[in-house]
Formats: sequence, structure tokens, C-alpha cells
Amino acid sequence: MNTSSSVASRPVGERGAFQTNHLESPTLPSRYYTDDAIYRRELHAVHYRNWCYIGHVSDIPRPRDYFTDTIAGQPIFVMRDRSGEIRAFFNVCQHRGHELLKGRGSLKVGITCPYHAWSYNLDGTLRNAPHTETVANFDRAQFSLRTINVAQSAGMLFVNLDPECEPFETKMGRFGETITRHLPDFEDYVAVERLHYDIGANWKVVVDNFAEAYHIPVAHPELARVLDEGLDDFVQEERFSYFLYRSRTGFEGLEIEAGSPYVAWMAWPTLNMLSLPGSKNLLVLRMLPNGVGQCSERVDIYAPEGPVDPKLLAVKSLFMDHFNQQDIGIVESVQRGLSSLGYDQGRYVCDPEDSWFSEVPLHTFHWQVLEALERLDG
Ligand code: FES
Ligand SMILES: [Fe+2]
Repeated sequence: MNTSSSVASRPVGERGAFQTNHLESPTLPSRYYTDDAIYRRELHAVHYRNWCYIGHVSDIPRPRDYFTDTIAGQPIFVMRDRSGEIRAFFNVCQHRGHELLKGRGSLKVGITCPYHAWSYNLDGTLRNAPHTETVANFDRAQFSLRTINVAQSAGMLFVNLDPECEPFETKMGRFGETITRHLPDFEDYVAVERLHYDIGANWKVVVDNFAEAYHIPVAHPELARVLDEGLDDFVQEERFSYFLYRSRTGFEGLEIEAGSPYVAWMAWPTLNMLSLPGSKNLLVLRMLPNGVGQCSERVDIYAPEGPVDPKLLAVKSLFMDHFNQQDIGIVESVQRGLSSLGYDQGRYVCDPEDSWFSEVPLHTFHWQVLEALERLDG
């Protein structure tokens, strides 16, 4: 991801101030991972005002289908209205705030709140509110559900909780094309697995861990046997990056044709994706903050609809049984270390050639967090 603007207030830690130049900069001071006040500012600066992945068009294939979810603790739902248009709303009744929908399913005429039965049309307008005829100055039109901006890209759905947000296409316009160049029919894929991990680490520690390959040969011996370090192609834009590597032959149980594509994406603020060699798949990972030292990692695994390719099972096992478990152990250890009196800042390990092990994307991510916090302060 590229950065163009500057950050005026650079946080200072024991090894000095965060620098624009990654070759000279110490890492973010550890309080950025442990301070509850910074965390609460991040919710508003990052999670409530950026485009966040929420699902796929195949989650709501028919009119009136819906699913619920949360973005950094904010309950929302996404649905298809009668005409097939996809809409998103805060999942909260405008009477006294009860949540409206649960799980996923299909709606009938409208949405009825389980608390006092206020009901809403599929466009979010208030349809009926029992016993409000005598309520003074009660204007039904003022009590529609709060809408949320929603965007589609190659079948992926994104929401932005900020009503004033810039359009998705402004900074993510080429994102979908990087998916369809590998998985041309991704719009027709379905989620074949949804995984949920509760992790004892600040959300940024988990994103950090996906932002560099430096640890792969050390921490992921199985993955290192699959992944060739040579970068074959990449796209770097302000809000996302895409990297195409080639695979080695794999190992027993996951035999792969050497040279098969191994693709990784990173998108601001919390999205990471992998397409692992050996079968048609897309692993979509997002980190949802859940307190300063806690987050949830959610993983949706997409594959073509129909009989499961046995090679997909091997790919899933590589991810679930090996490297994701290894990464969870890593990030929880790092969170304990960041809370230690014996650590405040390290260094970004980079070289001028930006080699495979470079931690430049990590520096870029931290830069973007600082920039977002600064924008919040106005
Ligand atoms: S809170 Fe929904 S009807 Fe009362
Ligand atoms: Fe890892």
C-alpha cells in the first residue's frame, strides 16, 4: 500500500519518534497495543469509517435474504430487497434499541422488532408502531432504520459505517480485478467454511503478523515448503496490495504442481486474503477488535459450489491445522511482550531492494493507523 500524505504528530517511544522512512524508523510504541484510550480512538478513526469486508453475494442469493454481523461491536444486517438490490442497516430498532434480526435467513413482508413489535419495510421505513396514535408529534418518517453504505467488488460485499464516506471505487477500484484475474468466476463461489478464532491480542498485532513474510521460514515450516520466495507480480495501491508468488511442489498430502500461483492480498484496514495453490480457493480473513487486548479473527473459505475438491481439504488443513494455529500462538505471545515493562519499540527490518522478508508493509500499515487517528482529531 502506498502512502502519500504526511503524519504531523509522530508518536515517540523509548527508541525515538516514528519516522516516515521505514529504514530509519523505530516501530510503534507498545502503548499503541495496550492503551485503552488509543484503542477507543481507533474504533472511530479506523473501524467506523472505512470500507470493511462483510460477506459475499452468495450469502444472500434471493430477494429478502439477509445475514447479521458486527463491525467492531456494531450490530448490522445486510439484505436483498424485493428488487434484488443489496442494502445494509444498523441492526437496531429505533424505538428503544433492541436488535432486530438474528443469524441469517429470509424475511417475509418486513422486519418486526421482538420487543414491542415496531415493524419496518424492507427499505427500512417504519411500517407500523403499535399504540403510537396518541404520542405527541410522532412522525413515523423520522424513525426509519439507519442505513449503511454497501459496495460490491467481484462478488465480495463491503460496508462502511460512515454516512459521509468516500465511494468504495475511489481507492479500491482495482481490487476486484486482482481477484478475478485468478478466480474469474469468484462471484459464483460460495463459503464452504466459516471459522472464528478468539485471540488474546490487539487487532493490530494480528494484522501486523500478516503484513510480513519475514517470520514464514522460522514459524511456518510446512508453509515454507510450499511457498517460493520469488515475487512474480504485485499491485500496490493506497488501500490494498496484491502479491503473486509461485509455489514449490508441496509435500505428502498436499502435492502441488511447481509454479502454481500462491496469491496474497492485504487491504486496509483489517482484510487479508490468500489463494493457496492446489485447488480453487479464496481464504478471506478479517480481524474484528474486541477490546484493546482482544480480537476475533474470522475466516471465510470460498470455493466453487458443488462437490468438494479433495485438494481443498488439504489446503484447509495446511491453513487451519498448521499456519493459522502457529500464528495465533505468535500474536498472543507478542501481545504479552508488548505489555511487558521490558519492551517498548523495535525496528522495521527492511532493505532498500524491498526483498521478500521486508517489513515495509508493516510500516505502511502503522503509518495508515497514525494518519487515521490524526484525521479523527481534525
Ligand atoms: S425496542 Fe423495538 S419495538 Fe421497542
Ligand atoms: Fe504467519
